[in-house]
Amino acid sequence: MSNEPLQAIRGTRDLLPGETEAWDVVEGIVREVMALYQYREIRTPVFEETQLFARGIGEHTDIVSKEMYTFTDQGGRSITLRPEGTAPVVRAWLQHRLGAQGSIDKLYYLGPMFRQEAPQKGRARQFHQFGAEIIGTDAPEADAEIILLFVAILEALGLNSWNLHLGTLGSLENRRAYRTELVAFMKGIEKLLCDDCRTRIDTNPLRILDCKRESCRLATAGAPVLLDYLDAESQAHFEAVQALLTDRGTAFTVDPRMVRGLDYYEHTTFEFLSPDLGAQDSICGGGRYDGLAEMIGAGERVPGVGFAAGLERIMLALEAAGSELDFEPLCEVALVAIGGEARRVLFGLCDALRRAGVAASMELTERSVKAQMREANRREALLALIAGEKELAGGTVTLKDLNDGSERVIALEETVPRVLESLEELEAGAIEEEPPDTLPAGEGDDGGQDDSDDPGEAA
Ligand code: HAM
Repeated sequence: MSNEPLQAIRGTRDLLPGETEAWDVVEGIVREVMALYQYREIRTPVFEETQLFARGIGEHTDIVSKEMYTFTDQGGRSITLRPEGTAPVVRAWLQHRLGAQGSIDKLYYLGPMFRQEAPQKGRARQFHQFGAEIIGTDAPEADAEIILLFVAILEALGLNSWNLHLGTLGSLENRRAYRTELVAFMKGIEKLLCDDCRTRIDTNPLRILDCKRESCRLATAGAPVLLDYLDAESQAHFEAVQALLTDRGTAFTVDPRMVRGLDYYEHTTFEFLSPDLGAQDSICGGGRYDGLAEMIGAGERVPGVGFAAGLERIMLALEAAGSELDFEPLCEVALVAIGGEARRVLFGLCDALRRAGVAASMELTERSVKAQMREANRREALLALIAGEKELAGGTVTLKDLNDGSERVIALEETVPRVLESLEELEAGAIEEEPPDTLPAGEGDDGGQDDSDDPGEAA
């Protein structure tokens, strides 16, 4: 048996300190914008009955036919790790009759999804999405709001470089008529298609339009487009969505060949592409799925529309945009103990400071004073609390400002209020130092915070 150290499974990865804080910031911004738009959070299980995805996403899609993590549990049930969030959200919405509670029609979620795709930059087997769904209305305003919501998130994140591609699949009838024409066209050029696409003629002909092979792209250049098969109602819906986006100044490109990898879509579909990401450039995809509820057993059609965005890709796009989201957490006080008795006293003080709301750090293993001071500097601590036998004998500790090096001796029992005072003084000083005429009122606080948050040379 090999004794090699075990590693995370291919296509999955550990998010390490430094990254987790950046993810927290991004997730915090997502939650803030969701709240502004009045979306409520839903958390569904990471595994579901396989049938939910097979029926909802479609048996012949790549996701269901090749990418799902499906297993049989001890009870003989077929279980699948969720490859996406929409089918589970609609399942939960139906199961808990959320439709009967008028105010819970807008939901958002955040969490891991699983697809067994070939891993590459921006494509993982466990990846993370945040998404939003509006369930219960077929109004074009809902399609437009979902798109504008994602635009608002991009703006809040400071991501300005993206292209919105907009398409429509029309109604089920439109799609059926189109499919017949498309199959006839594909049969005519069958010999020019790759093996996969030849199989798709009968199973998933629309997907052929999305084949990356040059030969297939050339062969299908003259294929019929769905936009020509829309009935008046579908056309009106698509035009209304476009008009609403245009009114809000949101630029988009109508993409008649856009293919989404899930079968539940009808009418509007869309993708946000980032020009900074290379091959895996879709940062968000979504659309309308009025038939999904019925496909998963609702007994009736329940209209819905939503989006999901890939967090890994959003992080890559932020990196490409030069956003500085990585940071070390703020350390306000580092405690430095000289000798065993001092360690015992400072251990208690450190806990008391934390309970008083101060970010405090102390070495848990006994180390030299020099090593403890080096660690305090590495953490960019604002203050150090230093105590040895001499100080403790006099009932005092030394409080050192690590910025200007000044020291003062304070009474041991007054440590917590004195530290709080010093931190307040430091903050006030930082605000005063800001040149008043270059900052609009109220931004001084942030300026002070930024200084102390600046990433240090960690190692
Ligand atoms: P999707 O287009 O399959 O749609 O995925 C949405 C986003 O998830 C993609 O644009 C991409 O950013 C990210 N993503 C997908 N697969 C991976 C992967 N293997 N690795 C990294 N990121 C990935 C859906 O999932 C639909 N549920 C969206 C939706 C919501 N439609 C209506 N409501």
